Amino acid sequence: MSEHVFIGVAWPYANGSLHLGQIAGAYLPADIFARYHRLKGNKVLMVSGSDQHGTPITLRAEQEGKSPQEIVSRYHQEFLDCWQKLGISYDLFTTTGTPNHAQVAHDIFLGLLDKGYMYKDVASQAYCPRCQRFLPDRYIEGTCPYCHSPQARGDQCDECGRTLNPSDLVDLRCRLCSTVPRFEVSEHFFLRLSAFEDRLKAWVQEQTHWRHNVLNFTLGILKGGLKDRAITRDIEWGVTVPQAGFERKRIYVWFEAVIGYLSASKEWAINNGDGAAWQPFWGNGAKSFYFIGKDNIPFHTLIWPAMLMGYGDHNLPYDVPANEFLTIEGKRLSTSRNWAVWLPDYLERYAPDPLRYVLSINMPETADTDFSWREFVRRNNDELVATYGNLAHRVLTFAHRNFAGVVPAPGELDSHSQELLGKAQAALDNVDTLLYGCHFRESVRAAMSLAQEANRYLDDKAPWKTIKEESQASATAIYVVLSVLSALKTILYPFLPFSSQELHNLLGFDGKIEASGWRIQSVPSGQKLPPPQPLFDKLDESIVDEESSRLGSEKS
Ligand code: MF3
Ligand code: ZN
Repeated sequence: MSEHVFIGVAWPYANGSLHLGQIAGAYLPADIFARYHRLKGNKVLMVSGSDQHGTPITLRAEQEGKSPQEIVSRYHQEFLDCWQKLGISYDLFTTTGTPNHAQVAHDIFLGLLDKGYMYKDVASQAYCPRCQRFLPDRYIEGTCPYCHSPQARGDQCDECGRTLNPSDLVDLRCRLCSTVPRFEVSEHFFLRLSAFEDRLKAWVQEQTHWRHNVLNFTLGILKGGLKDRAITRDIEWGVTVPQAGFERKRIYVWFEAVIGYLSASKEWAINNGDGAAWQPFWGNGAKSFYFIGKDNIPFHTLIWPAMLMGYGDHNLPYDVPANEFLTIEGKRLSTSRNWAVWLPDYLERYAPDPLRYVLSINMPETADTDFSWREFVRRNNDELVATYGNLAHRVLTFAHRNFAGVVPAPGELDSHSQELLGKAQAALDNVDTLLYGCHFRESVRAAMSLAQEANRYLDDKAPWKTIKEESQASATAIYVVLSVLSALKTILYPFLPFSSQELHNLLGFDGKIEASGWRIQSVPSGQKLPPPQPLFDKLDESIVDEESSRLGSEKS
């Protein structure tokens, strides 16, 4: 029976280029998951968009002397281009700047207000006398009251991950000029998070299928109690507040950005000519998954669920498989110090599948993992080229030379052949279970061990030796490996969509691999095989130094 699977993916701030940390953290696992479910025949809706509000955008615009709109338009285009090149297959990648988004955000705002989950109150807000402006949360720095990190921001402490209000900070200062801000009162709307505390606690405790880090982190926050939070701000850039007297204020970016999941679903439905098509993805029977980095956990496990509980009638998250961080060459990634590998740069120089492979096999699922260029080149050359690519190339070239470019008819299968085919089926079933549960690293590792097994089988059978005297044995071995390759193109499709499509065609199948389903598509004898092409290119060792030297240098 086909399922409805909603996949919400973190909305990147459109204030700079994407980097590998974000890809490994959220976008790639989401895409793998979506492709897997589509291949299974499930109904998938995967949405996200550019987060175009908030201080990250206005800070950047101020630095560049541009308007916020200019900044977000530039990066939104760049994101779209990157998704296409890397094969991140959103059903819709929109922005939080659409009229539809504002309308859905207003609707939720008013719904919560109507039900008493929001109220108006005065908040004292940090005002910098030197800069002569109200300071958005991110413009405020100070010491975290919980973990005492001196570098906490007004919205969150990066060290312990807790969400904060600016007034929680000890020794606070203006991030722009280091002046101590004063607090001035201003009227704002507050989300009554405290009203959801018991319900959230009960709900979170039931989510025993969540990753341990996500569950424990969320329970830890709940233990400290939930405080009501101001969800409007004294700023000009953002979604308007649908209330008289609030014309010069805007909705807080975090409150409206998470609403993007719902507004994008509705936009997708309208674009597809059936305005109600989003509903099955948000109703009973559907499961929703939110792919995010670990710095976004509380917004997806507490605040968005609270908003949905209050608004009513919409599914709460089923799973929030947040990843840990990716370090680069052993150091914490830093965009400001340019200690990052930028996705547009990568895509300009290299093919997408090797990156997808390396980030998958070393995905930071339960602990931080490291990306290094040496490892990248090694895995590309030893694993993609020498193990998987070479398996395909050897067998396809051999079939061309010796079996007139068609799939040969097998003889009787000996126990070794049966065993290998059994392992292919077992790998398909195993990865099915693993991917269903969002275990990406283990999945791709299982696929690669199947490729290794097939190489061993091929070396053992040595069809190039038997071709003269025992051509039937040679044909059988080639047939068996072609069948294993057919399994591999399916198992690896979610991870390596481009090369899987190529292999699909190289095995003589027409059309799109997406249509062939999650199964080992049999390779009928007599099927014509097109001229073989290598699936992957070997990379020169020199790129290790070349690429490493770009790290930390002035960004061009
Ligand atoms: N723009 C935020 C970030 O990059 C993520 C927002 S996820 C959302 O950290 F769901 F809230 F939009
Ligand atoms: Zn200041």
